[in-house]
Amino acid sequence: QSHQHKDLFPVMEKVSQFYQQQLRVNPQAKRAIQYLKDRGLSGEIAKQYAIGYAPEQWHALIKLADQPHQQKLEKDLVETGMLIEKENGQTYDRFRDRIMFPIRNRRGQVIGFGGRIIDKGEPKYLNSPETPLFHKSKELYGLYEMRHQLRSIDQIIIVEGYMDVVALAQFGIFNAVATLGTATTSDHLQTLFRLCPKIIFCFDGDRAGKAAALRALNHALPLIKDTREIRLMFLPDGEDPDSLVRKIGAAEFIQRSDQAKTLFDYLIEYLQSQVDMNTFEGPAQLVHLAKPYLQSIHDQVLKVRFEASLAKLSGLDPAQLKQILQSEVTATP
Ligand code: UTP
Ligand code: MN
Ligand code: MN
Ligand code: MN
Ligand code: MN
Repeated sequence: QSHQHKDLFPVMEKVSQFYQQQLRVNPQAKRAIQYLKDRGLSGEIAKQYAIGYAPEQWHALIKLADQPHQQKLEKDLVETGMLIEKENGQTYDRFRDRIMFPIRNRRGQVIGFGGRIIDKGEPKYLNSPETPLFHKSKELYGLYEMRHQLRSIDQIIIVEGYMDVVALAQFGIFNAVATLGTATTSDHLQTLFRLCPKIIFCFDGDRAGKAAALRALNHALPLIKDTREIRLMFLPDGEDPDSLVRKIGAAEFIQRSDQAKTLFDYLIEYLQSQVDMNTFEGPAQLVHLAKPYLQSIHDQVLKVRFEASLAKLSGLDPAQLKQILQSEVTATP
């Protein structure tokens, strides 16, 4: 990181402090506070996650500096994405009348924000753009807070939303992090595997959640090795971790996450669901479908075990199957 990068951290910290202060003192923030309360969040959790309020003004942030320093501040705020610059060079606050979730890097420095509209409206969440500080494909919401809260981390739950992380924390479940409106990347997984070997994906119980599971599978397979373990937790239709934990409580939520399917159990089940195993062709189709997945498994033990499962399911002799898979690989032009 260049030192220009470093100059931007204090600016973001200042903005975050301002938003938090606005939540406390701005009369407009009453609706925001009521909304957070209605969603079951305590002041303590709001404070822990440094939740704030961006006032309903076009030019609030520039006033964080005295007149002589406003030009420098304006430049920094544009660079961090907090101000939007129009073609004529004029600038205005990106986030207005929103509940603000600061996103921190692993050191706790604020690098971006997610801003939720109060109640209904579009877009529901507005996020900081990619900036020199903020790279969505690398950062995870709640990671710093989790490490701050927990002495030891035995597993990490990946959820979709800011509110999911905060709601789980409200219920004493501090080991959740969220991707930032993007799919989980290999970078995310590698970051988490550095902290602990066990990761649970928790997807919303909607169509998007199911599609996300398949993408997760593709990113995760090559990274599984040794004692690493990934589980996939599917929520009931229409639920997300926030709504579910409210409904069933922390103990039951944890129990369900412990019972979530492992990546390989899910993969084998998924492959079988894609073919008709009662036909002559089905088990053969299964082998072909499985091939690209097999190729992305790097752990030798899992690879051999997966091949053995495929042999069993397809009714092929293991040595034969191996030969077929190899010859097909080299046969493709
Ligand atoms: P969801 O729509 O599931 O959000 O999007 P949520 O967290 O359940 O929201 P609540 O409970 O209604 O407050 C999951 C995540 O996708 C991104 C955000 O990161 C959000 O947390 N998202 C969603 C956006 O970036 N923009 C949007 O308009 C919606
Ligand atoms: Mn950078
Ligand atoms: Mn969703
Ligand atoms: Mn959701
Ligand atoms: Mn939600």
